[in-house]
Amino acid sequence: MDTLNSLVLEKFTDDAVKSFFQRLSDQFQNEAAAVTTPQQAEEFRLRCQGRKQGILTKVGELLKQAPPEHKKNVGISFNRFKSEIGSEREWHKNVGLAGLTPETSPYGNIQGYLDKLKAAEIKQNEIDITLPGTVRAPGIPHPLLKTMHEIVAVFHHLGYSTNLGPQVESDFYNFEALNFPPNHPARDTQDTLVIAAQQTRPSRDRLLMRTHTSPVQIRTMIAQAPPIRIVIPGKVHRNDAADATHSPIFHQIEGLCVATNITFSDLKGTLDHAMKALFGSDVKTRFFPSFFPFTEPSADVQISCIFCGGKGCRKCKHSGWIELLGCGMVDPAVFAAVTAERRKVDPSDDAYNPEKITGFAFGMGVERIAMIQHGISDIGHFYSGDMRFLEQFA
Ligand code: DAH
Repeated sequence: MDTLNSLVLEKFTDDAVKSFFQRLSDQFQNEAAAVTTPQQAEEFRLRCQGRKQGILTKVGELLKQAPPEHKKNVGISFNRFKSEIGSEREWHKNVGLAGLTPETSPYGNIQGYLDKLKAAEIKQNEIDITLPGTVRAPGIPHPLLKTMHEIVAVFHHLGYSTNLGPQVESDFYNFEALNFPPNHPARDTQDTLVIAAQQTRPSRDRLLMRTHTSPVQIRTMIAQAPPIRIVIPGKVHRNDAADATHSPIFHQIEGLCVATNITFSDLKGTLDHAMKALFGSDVKTRFFPSFFPFTEPSADVQISCIFCGGKGCRKCKHSGWIELLGCGMVDPAVFAAVTAERRKVDPSDDAYNPEKITGFAFGMGVERIAMIQHGISDIGHFYSGDMRFLEQFA
C-alpha cells in the first residue's frame, strides 16, 4: 500500500472512486497474503489501522475533500474497504493467523483480543444460580425387580445360589421331565404359546414359551450332582386372558433344595422363615394339601392375612389367610427323568437315586407377592410404564 502516497484522487466520479478502492483492495490482499509471523501481522496492522499514520486514516482524510454530491458514494466505498480490512478484533483472522491462542501468541493486541474473547465466553457459560436447576430423577429398580431381588436375597442368606434358564423351552424340560406326560390333563392348566413349525420334531424337542420356572430345576440337576440349593427367578408365559390378577407374561421364583435327609420339615421351616423375612415376623404360615405333577406330597402355602392380621377382611375373602405359593417334596419320577438324562453321559450315574437323596421345591409368583406387599389391586400397573405408578416406588 505504499502506492497510497502516489495515489492521487483528482476526480471523485464513480469510476475514479471505484478504481481507487479496487487498487487499494488488491494491494491489501497481496500484502496480507505475505504475512507469516505474528510480528509481521502487527506491523502490517499498524500500517493499515494506525491512528495517525495508518492507511485508513490517510484515506479518510483524502476523502474529506470529496465534493458534497459525491460524499455519499465515496462514504459507501470507504466503509466497504474498512470492513474488508476488518476491525482490530478480526485482524488475526484477516491475516491468516486465526490459529493463534493466547498461549502461543507473543502478540500484545491479539493476546488482548483473545483474552477478551475468552472472558466473554466464560461469562456466557457462567452459572446463573437464580435459574431453577435441571431435575434429573435418579432411576429406580422396577417394583417387580425390587421384589424379585428381595426374595432372592432372603434365599441367598440361607446359602442358596441363583440359576437362570431360557424362556423358549423344550417340551421335555417344561413338561415331560417334570412328570407331565404327553397328553396328560395336567398340561391343560399351563397352556402356552408354542413355537411354529415344530410338528416334524419329536414331541420332547418341540419348543414353547416356558409356562413356569420349574424346567430350570431339571436343567440344574442334569448339570450338577447334589447337594443343590438354588433359586431361579424368571419370566414365564401362559395362555391366560389378562385381568386384574392375570397376565399372559409374568414372573416366578422357583426354589430347589436337594441333598441327603431333606424332609418336609425342612421345607416348612425354610418357607416359614422366608415368609417372615418378606412380610414381617408376625406372619404365620400354613400348608394345605395340593397337587403338582413334579412334587409328592404337594402343598399350597398360605400366610396369615397381612392386612387384617388374620381376623378376616375383604382382601383375604374373610378367611384370614392368603394363598401365596406352591411347594412339595421332589417326586421320584423327576429324579428318574434326571437320572435317565445323566446316564446318557455316564451310564453308572447314581447321583439322584431317590433311595439316597431327597429334596423339596417351591414356586411363587413375583407379581402376586409384590401386589400384596404394596397393596396393588391391578397387575396391569406393573406393565403400563405409567410414571405416576412407578414414581411411588422411588
Ligand atoms: N411350577 C408351578 C406353577 O407354575 C409352581 C410350583 C409349584 C413350583 C410347586 C414348584 C413346586 O417348584 O414345588 O404353577
